[in-house]
Amino acid sequence: MKLMIVYGTVEGQTFKIAKYLQQQAEKLGHTVIMYNAIDNPVNAGAYDAVIVGSSIHVGGYNAAVKHFVKENIDALNTMPSAFVSVSLTAAGTDEESWKDLEHITEKFLDEMHWKPALVEQVAGALLYTQYDFFKKFIMRMIAKKSGGSTDTGTDVEYTDWVKVNEFLNKFLLLAQGVPA
Ligand SMILES: Cc1cc2nc3c(=O)[nH]c(=O)nc-3n(C[C@H](O)[C@H](O)[C@H](O)COP(=O)(O)O)c2cc1C
Repeated sequence: MKLMIVYGTVEGQTFKIAKYLQQQAEKLGHTVIMYNAIDNPVNAGAYDAVIVGSSIHVGGYNAAVKHFVKENIDALNTMPSAFVSVSLTAAGTDEESWKDLEHITEKFLDEMHWKPALVEQVAGALLYTQYDFFKKFIMRMIAKKSGGSTDTGTDVEYTDWVKVNEFLNKFLLLAQGVPA
């Protein structure tokens, strides 16, 4: 199968997840073309399936990812597509934060008129040592609310790679029309 992966990232965690998805899919014999959404990839319809990934920053998804989805919406809605949402909230168990997260995702999909076959909430990373003062401040606040680490001297990766792999396998089977 020819798979397209488009990602939007700020600090690099969604890129890392997209790269992992690419490597795992290639190990299974698929051809994978990966694009950063800021490079303005086109023609999603030329592939058999598409995975789009975006991190959340200050309550919203990546602008370049939104642009890609908008430009390719007809293709995305007529082929197997999946959305991978990367956030710190997904690392925690706080019910209220999860409700907010699901609302952000639903609002995005509604606004785009996109109906992906699968939506996966993936935990991102806290890269305190790479943040400037402002980002550190915001992230400490978000981490406090959602149960993440508030130790600003240490980076923490929350991404559950087993869960990411399970998502990929499920999507690939679905995209190939194999019944669950
Ligand atoms: C300035 C800033 C704002 C963020 N805002 C949110 C947010 O509103 N909700 C959330 O769940 N995570 C938020 N995060 C956490 C990111 O989604 C998380 O760090 C993710 O791993 C970033 O992925 P990326 O490196 O691919 O951009 C924020 C991170 C930063 C640095």
